[in-house]
This record gives sequence, C-alpha cells and structure tokens, in this order.
Amino acid sequence: MRVESWTEWDPLRHVIVGRADLGQVPAPEPAVNAKVPEHSDMRGRWGRRPQDSIDRANALLDDFAALLRRRGIVVDRPEPIDFDAGIQTPDFQARTQFGCMAPRDVLLTVGPEIVEATMSFRCRWFEYLAYRPLLTRYFEADPAFRHTAAPKPRLTDRSFRPGYLDDAIGVQTRLDWTARKVFVTTEEEILFDAADVIRLGRDLIVQHGFTTNRKGIAWLRRHFPDHRVHAAHFPGDPYPAHIDCTLVPLCPGLILSNPTRPLPEHLRSLFRTNDWQVVEAAPPAHAEPPPLCYSSVWLSMNVLMLDARTVCVEKTEVHQAEQLDRLGFEVVPVALRDAYPFGGGLHCCTADVYRAGDRTDYLPRP
Ligand code: ARG
Repeated sequence: MRVESWTEWDPLRHVIVGRADLGQVPAPEPAVNAKVPEHSDMRGRWGRRPQDSIDRANALLDDFAALLRRRGIVVDRPEPIDFDAGIQTPDFQARTQFGCMAPRDVLLTVGPEIVEATMSFRCRWFEYLAYRPLLTRYFEADPAFRHTAAPKPRLTDRSFRPGYLDDAIGVQTRLDWTARKVFVTTEEEILFDAADVIRLGRDLIVQHGFTTNRKGIAWLRRHFPDHRVHAAHFPGDPYPAHIDCTLVPLCPGLILSNPTRPLPEHLRSLFRTNDWQVVEAAPPAHAEPPPLCYSSVWLSMNVLMLDARTVCVEKTEVHQAEQLDRLGFEVVPVALRDAYPFGGGLHCCTADVYRAGDRTDYLPRP
C-alpha cells in the first residue's frame, strides 16, 4: 500500500470513511458557541446524540463504504474512542468530545504525507486518536509515508475572542464581523482544521475563518515550501468553517463556487488567467439542514470526486446532481443526509489515503 494524494480529483484508490459511533452534540465551549447557528436546535443541549440517529448514520456510512469497495477502492475505518468521556489538558476541560464521522477535518493528505491538524474545538483535541491505528499501519506498510502532527494548540481562553461567547449576536453582526475578518479564533497560536484546505496539485487554497487563523496558514506555507499556499476569505458566511461547502474543485479547469460566498478577486483572477472555469453551484435541494446539524444546507455541494469525471453526490441533492450531470460528469448518488449532523457530507466523511496522480502544476500562470 501507499499513501499519496495531491488533488481532490485524481483517481481514488484508498480512502478513510468515518463512523458515527458515540457522536456528540458538544458541550458549550468558545469555538462551538461561535459555530452553532443561533437558531439551531443544538443550542441548550449537549451529550451523546440519540442512538437511533447514530445507528441510521452508521448504516449510511457503511453503505457508502460498501459502494466505494464495489468500485475497487480500498476503504479503511477509524476506531472510535470514548467520545462520551470528558477530557482535560493542563489548559482546559471539555465535558464531551465530538466523534469521528469527519476524517477530512482532522487529516490533511498532501503527497506522501498525512498531517494531523491542530483543530480548534476543545472537544476535538483528541480526535486524532481514532485514526492513529490506521496511521500506524500506514507507517509500517509504506516506507515513504510521512506522518506528521501539527503543533498541538493550548486552546486557552486567549485563543478565542470573547465577543463570540454571546448567544444572540445576530446574523447581520456576524456577517459584518466575518467580512472584516473578525473571527472567533485569535492569533494567540497556530490553528487550522484540515478541511479548510483544498488541494490542486502545486496549489493549496486555505480558508481563513473560524477554524483556521493566519498563523495556521503561515504554518502550512512553511511546512509545504514546494507548494503555493493561497489564503482565502469568503465574506457571506456567518459561520465560516471548512472550505468544502464554499469552493470545490471538480477536475483540472473546473471549480464550483458557492454563490452566497463569493470567491475573492485574487483567486478569481488566478483561475481566469489559467483558463479555469468557475461555476456557481446549483441551489441546495433543502431549505433547512436535518435536525441537530450545525452545517448549512450547502452540504449539497460537498461532493466527493472518484476521478476527474465521476462524482458522488448526496442522493436528495437533486439540483446539484443535475448540474453536475449537465457539466458532463458521471453522477453517483449516495444517501447520506441523515449522517450530516455528525460532521458533514460526502467530502467531510472521507479522507484521502491514495489517489493516482502527481504534483502537477494546474495553475502555472500567476
Ligand atoms: N461550514 C460548512 C457549511 O455549513 C460545513 C462544512 C462541513 N465540512 C466539513 N469538512 N466538516 O456550509
């Protein structure tokens, strides 16, 4: 076996698919308070999610894993740890953990390396442990695999802006703040989530927002000196976290952009100069996310490319599926909506281990 993946679209041969076991509604903490939408049914409650929702989400994730295996893709699964248990470090306590449905948030695969992200939610500090058995196995099997853990953050109160602790900030104020890059995380220390990064060969695009700060982007830039690392800020999202419902590359020359979170001009011009087409994603099929879900309805565009012409789309996201079909892709429908509350969609619930391809320069003109 081999670890290597440079893009979001090269032929997928080996992947990790998350599990919903012991999934939690996290207890209040600064980062969670800022990210859970103000009117969400998650507010005012925390602890293990209802067992029937866990069973249903696991059935969907198992079916997705089976579908990938039928297509000849090797699928590994994490080993859930006791997410019910509270955690403590010298700097903080958290009364619950989170879960391991979304390996994309934690594991950043760039070439022959997997980086465990720092994370920025206290409840997710130990989540990497669910993946350590797999990463250890990869380390033993692949002599070229580089296993890296980014600097563990302290996540004291200094890492979070106190203004975001208020439960009733109001969406307009949030939009004003995020437009001015006033995010919940401060610049106290290096912070990034792996899902804030998209990979396009020689280029990495990193979202600056709630879960990744400037120091996190600087760390990535210094850590990957052979890449061009572009920082991106998308006004229009009151809860900016994780880039994969905002900007989603489909294949060389084609990228989906969330029409409510406009692409910054420097990236628009980079794509234009290199003859890439930026397509506005179709509207989501649903007006609301499912119960106890902290992501937005834009999980519609959280697709997983199996190769540059085959795309997995959530089965009920009919507008997104139709748009991708029109763009010429083979669309593979996958039922996953009832698993959204556990951490996200088809891209979130996976992490690349191997895609057949190399570090091509897809955006050579500056
Ligand atoms: N913040 C995104 C939205 O609500 C959800 C991103 C989920 N992505 C992930 N990798 N967990 O639009």
